Amino acid sequence: MSNKIQTLSGYIHEYQKSVQDPDNFWGKIADSFYWHKRWDKVVDWNFEKPDVKWFINGKVNITENILEKHLFLLGDKPAIIWEPNDPDEQARTITYYELYELVCQFANTMKAQGVEKGDRVIIYMPMVPEAAVAMLACARIGAVHSVVFAGFSAKSLADRIEDCQAKMVLTSDGNFRGEKMIPVKAVVDEALEATNSIEKVIVLKRTGQDVIMKEGRDIWWHEAIEGVSKENKAEIMDSEDMLFILYTSGSTGKPKGVVHTCGGYMVYTMYTFQNVFQYNNGDVYWCTADIGWITGHSYIVYGPLLAGATTLMFEGVPTYPNPGRFWAICDKHKVNQFYTAPTAIRALQVFGTEPLEPYKLDSLRVIGSVGEPINEEAWHWYHDHVGKGRCPIVDTWWQTETGGIMVSPIPGVTPTKPSYATLPLPGIQLAILDNDGNELKGNSVEGNLCIKFPWPAILRTTYGDHERCRQTYFSSFKGYYFTGDGVKRDEDGYYRILGRVDDVINVSGHRMGTAEVENAINEHPKVVESAVVGFPHEIKGQGIYAFVICDMEGRSEENLKNEIRETVNKIIGPIAKPDRIQIVPGLPKTRSGKIMRRILRKVATGDTSNMGDTSTLLNPDVVEEIIQGAGKVN
Ligand code: WT7
Repeated sequence: MSNKIQTLSGYIHEYQKSVQDPDNFWGKIADSFYWHKRWDKVVDWNFEKPDVKWFINGKVNITENILEKHLFLLGDKPAIIWEPNDPDEQARTITYYELYELVCQFANTMKAQGVEKGDRVIIYMPMVPEAAVAMLACARIGAVHSVVFAGFSAKSLADRIEDCQAKMVLTSDGNFRGEKMIPVKAVVDEALEATNSIEKVIVLKRTGQDVIMKEGRDIWWHEAIEGVSKENKAEIMDSEDMLFILYTSGSTGKPKGVVHTCGGYMVYTMYTFQNVFQYNNGDVYWCTADIGWITGHSYIVYGPLLAGATTLMFEGVPTYPNPGRFWAICDKHKVNQFYTAPTAIRALQVFGTEPLEPYKLDSLRVIGSVGEPINEEAWHWYHDHVGKGRCPIVDTWWQTETGGIMVSPIPGVTPTKPSYATLPLPGIQLAILDNDGNELKGNSVEGNLCIKFPWPAILRTTYGDHERCRQTYFSSFKGYYFTGDGVKRDEDGYYRILGRVDDVINVSGHRMGTAEVENAINEHPKVVESAVVGFPHEIKGQGIYAFVICDMEGRSEENLKNEIRETVNKIIGPIAKPDRIQIVPGLPKTRSGKIMRRILRKVATGDTSNMGDTSTLLNPDVVEEIIQGAGKVN
């Protein structure tokens, strides 16, 4: 069975088929999965409501397409290779057969602890195989998982628990990250003081650090699974039943729960995995993301495992114990496909090529990039020094909301161009719209990136607030899904993503809403008002620049800035800490009271030669004061 594209004409042919007859195109791909009952209709959609359904009335369980499906032919094949944070600790290999048993046993365990189909379960765990087992066990019994990145604060965790009214938390005592040991369970304890829906917490022993176990609520993982059966009959799910919720930031203050469903997500993640990475049986595939992000969901866990691949999971960080760690792992496990983020490439680029020298990297065939635009310099460095000039780079553009990769070269098939995501995958109908909503046809155009036809893994709603989903994605341009990104289609018809056009900044490939960071800053009692914008950052892609009005009484500027950073750290987590804070006497505002971010962005970028028209400002004088102050910011 193969839906793999192998030639450029093959790609063009598949693309055309997918546009001319989407039902037939996706129906054929979906036929390679095991369904309890086949669908009645492939797709039904309306982008105005929005209402999108795929594989209607199909009955399926995604884990049977990972576990049962591969038991017979691939039972002894490694499903997961786990590389621990500490290179001296033994790596672990879990075969498809072992994965089957682990998932079934944990599925039974969760049921025994009171979880039922439709219940929400929070996973707040380090990068260990049990985290993948936890996700699959939820899917097995029809519980809806919501993985929260284990670097988020107690407050962020509590907000997510509260929003989806989760019943259970799966966590660990602690988390190894480089030289640090992070007290994960303690964060959960703090979050649970602010919420009341959680009935049980299952705690995996990872670091062995001291934790407080609350009687009647907290259970050790190893004790909970003791004596539990390793056989489990999968819950039969409807195609459109919820598979998971994943929270992501937007331009308003509160993160929203992006909802993905069983059937379409399953079909799309496997199809895109096979094509974008050209995985062959026996290969070892490695994606360096964290399971707390969509990349980890679709391309560490679901896509590769659906395809029967061996997926490598790494617990640590790229620079521990030294900046050669990624390359050491590639050689040690003979990695064939390597998928990482531009921010990691740039961070390693700083160390030069010396850390690469001890390694051959000769197993690599395809190298990928995701999360933010990859600048040309990083692209070439990656291409020359990691891919040794022989591995195609797949620059993959997609989003939490799209569920899977949307625009990407097919390696060995699509000619690449530095910093271009190149062409849409089959089934993806892109459109570029100007600000008035006119579709710009032809080549050499630039505008807002939209999509005019659904694909199987498109988000279905935002949890508990469908209107918000409509507002955010389907109202800017009537009849289109709006991505929030700017894009250029060049003279060859190739796509280059230009970055966000809304109030979202991309810090090291992580999406941050400016309003969310502002809300956190404003929690500091001395802060009167703040405005946050992005600025170009050498390693992170974009950094966070905060303009803050505050009452300085009794504090030095230095102390105040540290306190503000600590406030943000506490409310969101370390990834949201501003790189630069400028204390300002006022913020440039229009007569209607709106902050003119355009001006602040220019100041943050250091481009103050032409501030444009400031005559409509309520307080034009403040602009000069801000420019003056910007020189001495840290
Ligand atoms: C935003 C989505 C989906 C993977 C992880 C991020 C930016 C993502 C690329 C790329 C340029 C990219 C976009 C997008 N982005 N990949 N290859 N080139 N920009 O997921 O947190 O949902 O963020 O990341 O701005 O809208 P996310």
